[in-house]
Amino acid sequence: MKIATILGTRPEIIKMAPIIDEISKRNIDQIVLHTGQHYDEEMSDTFFRDLDIRTPDYNIQVGSGTHGKQTGLMMKGIEKVLLDEKPDIVLVQGDTNAVLAGALVASKLHIAIGHVEAGLRSFDMTMPEEINRRAADVCSTMYFIPTAESAINLLAEGYSRKNLFITGNTVVDACFRHLKIAKKRGIKEKSLKELNIDKMDNILTLTMHRAENVDVKERVVGIIEALKELDDADIIFPIHPRTKNTLEKFGLFDELNNLEHVHIIKPLGYLDFLLLTSASTLILTDSGGLQEEAITLSVPSLTLRYNTERPETVTAGGNILVGSDREAIVSNARKILDNKNFADKMKNAINPYGQGDSAKLTVDAIEDYHARGLLDIVA
Ligand code: UD1
Ligand code: UDP
Repeated sequence: MKIATILGTRPEIIKMAPIIDEISKRNIDQIVLHTGQHYDEEMSDTFFRDLDIRTPDYNIQVGSGTHGKQTGLMMKGIEKVLLDEKPDIVLVQGDTNAVLAGALVASKLHIAIGHVEAGLRSFDMTMPEEINRRAADVCSTMYFIPTAESAINLLAEGYSRKNLFITGNTVVDACFRHLKIAKKRGIKEKSLKELNIDKMDNILTLTMHRAENVDVKERVVGIIEALKELDDADIIFPIHPRTKNTLEKFGLFDELNNLEHVHIIKPLGYLDFLLLTSASTLILTDSGGLQEEAITLSVPSLTLRYNTERPETVTAGGNILVGSDREAIVSNARKILDNKNFADKMKNAINPYGQGDSAKLTVDAIEDYHARGLLDIVA
């Protein structure tokens, strides 16, 4: 059996790492194809080193661009590789443009598709991610689903129960394994080391990059106004390149950077980032992966969005949706910072994303489908 894994952005590398590793351990033939959507050292290469996974066999270097251009270039590059390599199954992860491109190309070549992190729904079709994940699900053969809630989304859309596998999320595998490694290694990145996070009482880790937030000036302003008020905490903000660009465009970068309690640093490698998040009192984010990691690490999170495709984190009690509303961000952050009982309750939320054996369950299911000849039937 040959498995082709398609990835292209930071979260896909992190979440596919445990699966790539598991495939290697079982000596299954595999290729890894990088779309090149993320290309800066700190958005891509650093993760292959930190997570100790094989370097991609192909990088089709699509770079940045509009959705149409990026997806089109990906489709062209992926098609060539799949025609040459003829894998038995193509794995795509999550909801990026690589997932859409990979799923469209593989399905037209009649190659089985495994969608890792399938079934999530924000029910917000203005998000490119919602379009990508829904389209990928239509094309897929096997669905690796983090939770029962996401399985219910797929059942409600008429997908066959037989092809659904509730595996948890591979981010838990990555997080557990690499936090141990990170603790042994210690902080490597100079900008984080210099902040002396051991001496900080209240660390707020902030990440944001979601187009519907950072590309809209009023939303960014709402978030910055809230950050100004939380001046008794140290806000550490490893900034995504998209966000750096738009803050500069809106003329807001210097205003934020000049706040004494806000520390803007470049994006961190996975090990350094885990050391930062696990030491945090609170995580403020619009990231999908970070909502999952926060509850995995027992750190309360406030999500800077008005909806989430990860509602389990909210119902479990570990995450609150605050959007970009200054008052909602400040009042909820204050409860976590000032009220120990409130914070403890959030910390005790039960992680809905599994035990850290998601990669094993995923590859078990693929081997079983292959042995039963089911990967050959993609109709
Ligand atoms: C993409 C995904 C998003 C995911 C995120 C993870 C889509 C539609 N979006 O968003 O779902 O949550 O990755 O981080 O697939 N840039 C650089 N260097 C890089 C990469 C990007 O400077 O290595 C800058 C470019 O100016 C680019 C912008 O960031 O135009 C946005 O990058 P892009 O890959 O289009 O989308 P993300 O916002 O990263
Ligand atoms: N992450 C990281 N360094 C950073 C910021 C995030 O390693 O400076 C990791 C984080 O731990 C998570 C993933 O990147 O696993 C999330 O990626 P991102 O927020 O870019 O994308 P999303 O999950 O929203 O698609």
